[in-house]
Amino acid sequence: MFIRSSGGLDALALAKLSLSRMEFRGRDCSGVAWLEGDEIRVVKDSCPVGELFARHHLGSRPTGSVLGHTRYSTHGKADPRNAHPHVDCEGIVAVAGDGALRNYEDLYAELLERGHRLVSKSDFELVPHLVEESVRRGSDYLGAFADAVASLRGIVAVAALFRDGSAAAYTSHQPIYVGTGEGVLAVSSTLSGLYGIATRFSRVSRGEVVAVTSGGEVAFYDLSGRRLSKELLPYELEEPLVEADGFPHHMLREIYEVPYSILRTASAVQSRYLELASKIVLRSNRVFVVANGTSLHAGMVFSYYLSEMSGTVPVVVSASEFLLYHLDGLSVGDTVIAVSQSGETSEVVRSAYEARLRGATVIGVTNNINSRLTRFSNIYLPVAAGPELAVPATKTFASTLTLLYVLAKSAAAITSAPSSRTLAETWEEFEKLHYALLGELDGIRAEADEASKLIAGCSSGYVVSRGITYPLALEGALKIKESAYVHAEGVEGGELRHGPIAILDEGMFAIFIEPLEPSAAEDMFGVMEEVVECGSPTVVVSHSTRAKEVLGAGVRAIRVPRFERHFMPISVAVALQLLAYSLANRKGVNVDKPRRLTKVVRT
Ligand code: F6R
Repeated sequence: MFIRSSGGLDALALAKLSLSRMEFRGRDCSGVAWLEGDEIRVVKDSCPVGELFARHHLGSRPTGSVLGHTRYSTHGKADPRNAHPHVDCEGIVAVAGDGALRNYEDLYAELLERGHRLVSKSDFELVPHLVEESVRRGSDYLGAFADAVASLRGIVAVAALFRDGSAAAYTSHQPIYVGTGEGVLAVSSTLSGLYGIATRFSRVSRGEVVAVTSGGEVAFYDLSGRRLSKELLPYELEEPLVEADGFPHHMLREIYEVPYSILRTASAVQSRYLELASKIVLRSNRVFVVANGTSLHAGMVFSYYLSEMSGTVPVVVSASEFLLYHLDGLSVGDTVIAVSQSGETSEVVRSAYEARLRGATVIGVTNNINSRLTRFSNIYLPVAAGPELAVPATKTFASTLTLLYVLAKSAAAITSAPSSRTLAETWEEFEKLHYALLGELDGIRAEADEASKLIAGCSSGYVVSRGITYPLALEGALKIKESAYVHAEGVEGGELRHGPIAILDEGMFAIFIEPLEPSAAEDMFGVMEEVVECGSPTVVVSHSTRAKEVLGAGVRAIRVPRFERHFMPISVAVALQLLAYSLANRKGVNVDKPRRLTKVVRT
C-alpha cells in the first residue's frame, strides 16, 4: 500500500493502520519505505507490522509519502531480506508487490548478468531494478514503471515510491483501490486497507496504472499510456465486513479468491524445481502421495493426473495409515509426495521425516514454505495460495490441485518438451479457467444457495460421483460435515446400488457430481432417476444441459463451466464449497471456526 498525507497527518501511523487491516493477506514479514529529503529509507523485518513498528522504534512522520507491505512467503522464506519494499541499486525507487512472477527465473538471470545487486529470494526484488534500467535508458519515472511492469508475467499487483515523492501502482489481474480523504491519499491492494482512511474510492482494474505526482495529483492510465477517466465513489465498507475485506466470512472471501489463487500457484512454481521433482517422480521405484483430509482428496485427484499423463501410478494414502503400514518396506528409490496446506499437520510431517530416515526422497507440497514439512523435504513446491484463515480449506484445495496438475504435466513433458514451455502453456490454460470462474462465481453461488434450501431439512446425505470427480464427492461430503455440521458421505456412483441406496428417503439428500467420463455419466443419470424416485432431495452439480432432463420439484442443478476434464475438479470444488457455505449459514454455524476443529491438526 501507499499513503500520502498532508496537513499534519502522520503518514507512518496511517500506513500502520492500513497494513494491520491487510494482514489477512499475510503477516510473516512487513516493511515500510519513506522519503527523507530525496533519499528513500526502508525498514523491514520478518515480523508482523505492529512488531515492526515497535522493534524499529518507528516514530511519527507528520507529512509525506509511505510505501508499506505485509507479506506471506511464496518466493523466499520469512527473512528480513525477502521482506518488501525492495530498492534498486541506485536508490531511485522502492517497490512492494503482491502475486507471483512467472518469468522470475529468466528476469533474475538477465539482471544478474547485467550486474545488478540482487540480495533476496523474493521475486518482486527484480521490479525496482527493471525500473532503474529504464530510467538509465532515459525514461521518466512513470514511463520506467510502465516499462518494468509490462515486462512482468504472472499475477502482479505492485506499487512504487520514487525518490522525487511521486508514486505509481499497477495490477495485472486482482483489483487494487485508490482512496481519498481529508489530507490523505491511499492506494491499497485490499478494500479494507482504506477503512478509516478514505471517504471516497475508485477501483483500479486489470492492466491499469494509477500515478500520483509529487504534488499529489492522481491520474489513471492503461499500459499504452492512454489516460483513463475514473469516478471516485463514496467509500462505505461497513465495520463488520472489514475483517474479511468486504465479505461476511473468511471462508466466502477465500472461495472468491480461487480464480486468483490458481494463477498465483501457476506463476509461483519455478521450472527448475518442477523439472527436478518430475524427474524424481519418473525415476522412482514407487511413488506415495501422503496427506490428510482435504489435501488427501487433492492427492487422489493427482493420481488421475499423473497416471493418465505420465503412466506412473502413485499410491495415495492417508498419512495416518502411511505411518502404520507403509514405512517398513520404504527404501532408497521410493518417493513420497507429502501434501499439506499448513505444512504442519503432525502425521504428514512425521511421514516425511520417517521416509527420509529410510532413504526415500521426499517432495513437499505446501502452502507454508516456512513449515516443518519444507525442512524435512528434499525438495518442496509452493502452493502459493496466500494465507487461508477459515478452517475449511477452500482456495488451498484449488491451488494444490493446480500445483499437482502442473507437476503431472511437467512429468509428462519431460522427455518431449522443455518445462518452461510446459509452464507457459499451462499458465494460459489456467488463465482461461481464471476468467471463466470469475464470470461464473456469482451465478454458481446463487444456484448453490437455492440448492442448500432444498437440502436444509435433511440431517444426512450422500455426495456421489465417478472418475476424476469421485475424490470431489469425498471432499464435498467433508466440506458439508465440517462447515454445516450435517452428516454426509462421499460415495462412488457405481457403489450406490451395492448398499447405500437402501436407506435413501425424503429425509436424506443426494448430491450428484456429473462425471466427465461419458460412460460413467450415462450410468449415473440412471442411478439418479432411482434416487429421485426414493424421494431424496437431489442436487446435480452439472457441466452439461443433461441435468435438465431429471430436474423437477425435488431436483436442483448447480451449473459449473465446462473445461478440459483435468480442470473440472477445480470448478466442481468451488460449487461444493459454496453449497457447504450456504448450508452452514442456514444452520447458523460460524463457518470460519467450526467447533472441535483447528486449522492445523497436531497430534
Ligand atoms: C478440511 C481441512 C482438513 C485439512 C487436513 C489437512 O477442510 O481443512 O481436512 O485438509 O487437516 O491439513 P493440511 O493440508 O494443512 O495438512
